[in-house]
Amino acid sequence: MQERLRRSFEETLKFASASGAWIVPGESKNAVKGGEIPSDLPILAVPGGGRLTAIREEMGDCKRCGLSSGRTHIVFGVGKGDAGILFVGEGPGEEEDRRGEPFVGRAGGLLDKMIKAIGCKREEVYIANIVKCRPPRNRDPKVEEIAACIPFLKAQIKAINPAVICALGRHAATSLLGIDAPLGRLRGQRHHFEGVPLIPTYHPAYLLRNPSAKRDVWRDLQLVRDLAAR
Ligand code: URA
Repeated sequence: MQERLRRSFEETLKFASASGAWIVPGESKNAVKGGEIPSDLPILAVPGGGRLTAIREEMGDCKRCGLSSGRTHIVFGVGKGDAGILFVGEGPGEEEDRRGEPFVGRAGGLLDKMIKAIGCKREEVYIANIVKCRPPRNRDPKVEEIAACIPFLKAQIKAINPAVICALGRHAATSLLGIDAPLGRLRGQRHHFEGVPLIPTYHPAYLLRNPSAKRDVWRDLQLVRDLAAR
């Protein structure tokens, strides 16, 4: 039980710091007395992210699906708690699982360039995934895994209230839209997720394999940028 609590606390701290939490040092005048909570303990604050912290706490040391058994870290999401743009990928890969942060591997490098191309910095947007634990050998997430995890993403979307969601790849788009269609048929149009405009585009990993799709992605990103500016 203590080990579970420790891991849960560790993951919450990691999430808080990855979300841009800052530490407010106390005035540090009070001595710590036995059994009392010192008033000069550092305060963790996530800009616009109090509700995100609560969602992360609700997940705890999540065991709601089988993906939990193979994970190193829950990859909750990073970025600005009130970002105008939310990027949603499929699920953490090896590097993301190791570091506890989404899109930090090769595909992440390309996502960073995509974000830059529309005049933003990574820390100005929010980045999350459909499932928060790594599927083994990077297989597609299963229906039951998505079903167990997506309520947390939906809660994150509510908390962030972005101007636009950019769904990266078919799994992100179809899971949020609740329809089954190839990405080629979904992209190029504006969809909606609970009233929030949703723009599907190719996943950066697909782009790494198919650089000729960059032209289409650029069109989608321009739409994302324009919707965020409204
Ligand atoms: N691919 C994803 O879909 N998400 C990540 O976080 C990394 C790679």
